[in-house]
Amino acid sequence: MSHTLFATKRIDQLQADAEHAGGLKRELGAWDLTLLGIGAIIGTGIFVLTGLAAANNAGPAVTLSFVIAGIASAFAGLCYSEMASMIPIAGSAYTYSYATMGELVAWIIGWDLILEYLVGAATVSVGWSGYVCQFLKNALHLDIPESWTTSPFVWYEAGKTLPTDAISTGQFFHNEGAIINLPAVLITLFVTWILIRGVKESARFNAVVVFVKVAVVLLFIAFVGPKVVPENWQPFVPEPLKDPASGEPIFGKFGLSGVFQGATTVFFAYIGFDAVSTAAQEAKRPQRDLPIGILGSLAVCTVLYIAVSGILTGVVPYQELNVAHPVSLGAERAGIGWLETLIEIGAIAGLSSVMLVMLMGQPRIFYSMARDGLLPSVAAKIHPKYGTPHITTAITGVVCAIAGGLLPIDILGELCSIGTLFAFVLVSLGVMILRFKRPDIERKFKVPGGPVLVPMLGVITSGVLMYTATTATIVRLFVWMAIGLVIYFAYGMHHSKMRRA
Ligand code: ALA
Repeated sequence: MSHTLFATKRIDQLQADAEHAGGLKRELGAWDLTLLGIGAIIGTGIFVLTGLAAANNAGPAVTLSFVIAGIASAFAGLCYSEMASMIPIAGSAYTYSYATMGELVAWIIGWDLILEYLVGAATVSVGWSGYVCQFLKNALHLDIPESWTTSPFVWYEAGKTLPTDAISTGQFFHNEGAIINLPAVLITLFVTWILIRGVKESARFNAVVVFVKVAVVLLFIAFVGPKVVPENWQPFVPEPLKDPASGEPIFGKFGLSGVFQGATTVFFAYIGFDAVSTAAQEAKRPQRDLPIGILGSLAVCTVLYIAVSGILTGVVPYQELNVAHPVSLGAERAGIGWLETLIEIGAIAGLSSVMLVMLMGQPRIFYSMARDGLLPSVAAKIHPKYGTPHITTAITGVVCAIAGGLLPIDILGELCSIGTLFAFVLVSLGVMILRFKRPDIERKFKVPGGPVLVPMLGVITSGVLMYTATTATIVRLFVWMAIGLVIYFAYGMHHSKMRRA
């Protein structure tokens, strides 16, 4: 049994499968791929989570959190690049691990990617809701009642700047008066509908949204930057908060541990560069251009994030950043009203495009898993008229809408971050394993420094960020993976096409 659990798909067979999977045209160049990456990366992370991480975990040192998360992403990005240049077909980490570490690990990654894509999209929907509400209020003087724009559940734990008498174990609480986050639900259902109809996000549309997003961020840097009050950066790393009951410092709330926990939170801002690898079948010269697209988009975003987080904590005292729209608050505090509105518009457009990419990726992973027999074949059904995986798209959309409508952004974002970090660990390991197992396969791009150094650094950095996540988040990851294993041993293992063959 262990033999087949770890049986791998052959890479040449994967490539052949890909050729038969439908005539995707190879049209994207390095520039398109970089834009695709930036389009998928800039979103709720920088526009919302920066504020939460500054207020709750790291203070002004959230800038350092961005540096740490950027380093972890860069190692993973190098590993994704090597994988993508070697196996230039769609399917991302799930496909890579099927080829390198076998079916069980592939299932584990596939199941884990639900956290990255589906939970990620839910996180972005909540961020979108925050900016839409602020825009309606600010530009149109339209106030949607808060009970319809906030999640009915909150997670209270010690040290959070929430109206609470600091509960040290952490607990779900009903958010008095809140019913559902309706805008988050509506945007999710709308994007799902677009995806089912197959209105493909054309490269040109994506380019426009990316341009708007990046322009807004650059305007923020140019106009708000000069208004920084350096005193707001003091203390750069605030003292750790103490548990009122025991007097002990609380892990992850300011101090060095807070910088790392903040990094786990803002790591969310970097998620998306791996989406570039899912376009492998549409790239003109995948072996050359995929690494450029992945690393290029990552580099651009790292620079922007460090600048924005530094400026934001320089214009607004970090204690006040625990809001749904921190970046536009920064412009407001700097006294630049027109920019505030522009940022809201940029965020609304920009976050929708991130959701589009994520909600498009998830059903395609389900589709690959179903084609391999690990999920029921109904998940591999394609709509006769629209040519899209409509059933999985609809299921993904509905589940995502429920999650975004009911859960708070911090829980969703942290769960997505830890799930993605876990995928990074497995992909990094895969690169290393494959160098020894299949040295013969041509790699147009190789991680520098030999087969061990960069992948090992990838495992370590992502591992450290997983380790410094909140305990509740780590527990949630374990529960989720346990559910996945039960499903695999109850269903997938018995229906796997590879095993049957
Ligand atoms: N990186 C993406 C965002 O921040 C997921 O929204």
